Amino acid sequence: MSHEPIIPPLAGHGRLALDASELRSWGERFGRVAQPPLVVTIAGELGAGKTTLVQAICRGYGVTDEVTSPTFALVHKYAAPRSPVFHLDLYRLVNSDELTNLAWDEILADEALVLVEWPERAGDRIPRDHVPVSLQHLPNDPDRRLFYAGGHQ
Ligand SMILES: Nc1ncnc2c1ncn2[C@@H]1O[C@H](COP(=O)(O)OP(=O)(O)O)[C@@H](O)[C@H]1O
Ligand SMILES: [Mg+2]
Repeated sequence: MSHEPIIPPLAGHGRLALDASELRSWGERFGRVAQPPLVVTIAGELGAGKTTLVQAICRGYGVTDEVTSPTFALVHKYAAPRSPVFHLDLYRLVNSDELTNLAWDEILADEALVLVEWPERAGDRIPRDHVPVSLQHLPNDPDRRLFYAGGHQ
């Protein structure tokens, strides 16, 4: 990734508690300005809103197909105006070696927008210059999630 990724200002570099519609709105704005190649990791427990966010980013990026969770296939590919989009859900990945079977190196070489749920499973095979996003449940508010989106790590 040769360019600085643009992080829409709502999130800035801080943390906020967003409801689902605020999260979707941020995702759509992020998708509208995203320039490939770009890897976005989305961390968070089951039900945190990772797929909800991926769907919004894809909408903003111009994906017109329905975006569904790649729980069994682990990776789905979509067409969009600026590049292909790969959506990975690595929940079922046992170890990062298995990424080879998903053509991970080819995906990274494809100059695409790559959106990864459960990035922890990929270990050190996530490129260093990705955009890390995280979503966390709040104990006292079932409708909001603690949201963080960073720049280069
Ligand atoms: N603030 C919020 N952000 C995202 N999802 C929320 C929020 N509040 C409630 N939800 C609900 O939580 C669920 C998140 O599901 P999903 O996006 O599939 O999560 P994940 O992919 O992290 O398992 C959805 O049913 C969504 O409507
Ligand atoms: Mg999901």
